[in-house]
Amino acid sequence: MLMHLLFLLSCFDLFILTNSSSSTQPLCHEDESSALLQFKQSFSIRENASIDPSAYPKVKSWKLQGESNDCCLWDGVECDEGTGHVIGLDLSSSLLYGSINSNSSLFRLADLQRLHLADNDFNYSQIPSAIGNLSELRSLNLSLSLFNGQIPLEISMLTQLTSLDLSWNPLKLHKPSLGTLVQNLTRISELSLSNVIISSEVPDVLANLPSLTSILLEDCGLHGEFPIGIFHLPKLQVLNVRFNQNLTGYLPEFHQSGPVKKLKLAGTSFSAQML
Ligand SMILES: *[C@@H]1O[C@H](CO)[C@@H](O)[C@H](O)[C@H]1NC(C)=O
Ligand SMILES: *[C@@H]1O[C@H](CO)[C@@H](O)[C@H](O)[C@H]1NC(C)=O
Ligand SMILES: *[C@@H]1O[C@H](CO)[C@@H](O)[C@H](O)[C@H]1NC(C)=O
Ligand SMILES: *[C@@H]1O[C@H](CO)[C@@H](O)[C@H](O)[C@H]1NC(C)=O
Ligand SMILES: *[C@@H]1O[C@H](CO)[C@@H](O)[C@H](O)[C@H]1NC(C)=O
Ligand SMILES: *[C@@H]1O[C@H](CO)[C@@H](O)[C@H](O)[C@H]1NC(C)=O
Ligand SMILES: *[C@@H]1O[C@H](CO)[C@@H](O)[C@H](O)[C@H]1NC(C)=O
Repeated sequence: MLMHLLFLLSCFDLFILTNSSSSTQPLCHEDESSALLQFKQSFSIRENASIDPSAYPKVKSWKLQGESNDCCLWDGVECDEGTGHVIGLDLSSSLLYGSINSNSSLFRLADLQRLHLADNDFNYSQIPSAIGNLSELRSLNLSLSLFNGQIPLEISMLTQLTSLDLSWNPLKLHKPSLGTLVQNLTRISELSLSNVIISSEVPDVLANLPSLTSILLEDCGLHGEFPIGIFHLPKLQVLNVRFNQNLTGYLPEFHQSGPVKKLKLAGTSFSAQML
């Protein structure tokens, strides 16, 4: 009987031990969960705000109640396992509708490394300049979200960025220019600005960003001669500059062992070969 009891007790200990070791991840910080809830409240859910047929309102489950008290468990939220700070927010295709500005509580999430808000309806807001304060950002995706106006210079300060996608928005990139925007983004690997009104030549600085693997600049009103150095980027796999009618350029000779996998040049004025 005593043996039994001891055995049971030791099982119980074991249970407590394993249980406590699995809950060592710190809970969400209170200021961050309240910033997230404020962000949620600044939007409404609209059925036609996203075009992806599998879109659903991820923020609906966000509440400070019972089991869902910990914002690190909320749909679309990712926390650092060590510090508990929110480092990722993925609300792509979440049927969000509403305006956003630099006062948004979003910009209190100072540790964000990933911000994915693609395929929502931000009601022709400008991209808030406070985005430049999210200095830890590695990945920013605001594609297809009805952002309007000039792309702010502050994006050029996000020097940790490896992936930037602002495509398919009624945005302009004049001041700053494309060159100014990207010149200090030395870690950038994926750059997508398709359908943004750029209306300039392609700046040579793109050829100085050695991490680039993918450049998507479809239908941007680009003209002039495409810098041949871009084809020599050591990791470039995908280049899409189609539907830039007045963009000229020459294709270099490609080696089969080279990194380039996909080239889209339809609707440009490229010539097949350098003579
Ligand atoms: C969504 O529907 C409303 C009317 O209910 C309309 O005014 C709005 O333009 C639509 N938004 C989009 C992105 O189609
Ligand atoms: C959408 O933008 C218009 C024009 O700026 C504004 O009047 C309206 O309040 C905005 N709607 C929402 C839900 O933010
Ligand atoms: C931000 O909030 C401050 C204080 O509430 C207000 O004065 C300012 O107009 C707001 N800015 C924007 C862009 O809404
Ligand atoms: C962004 O950072 C600047 C300088 O650190 C600060 O003055 C400003 O208030 C910050 N803006 C926001 C929206 O946090
Ligand atoms: C950005 O998000 C859209 C929609 O979810 C997706 O199709 C696209 O591939 C993303 N861009 C990058 C660079 O991952
Ligand atoms: C890029 O970095 C250089 C050197 O640090 C700096 O002088 C320049 O202002 C930066 N450009 C942009 C657009 O941030
Ligand atoms: C291309 O150049 C021609 C001649 O200069 C001009 O008429 C046309 O509008 C330009 N096309 C675009 C898409 O910029």
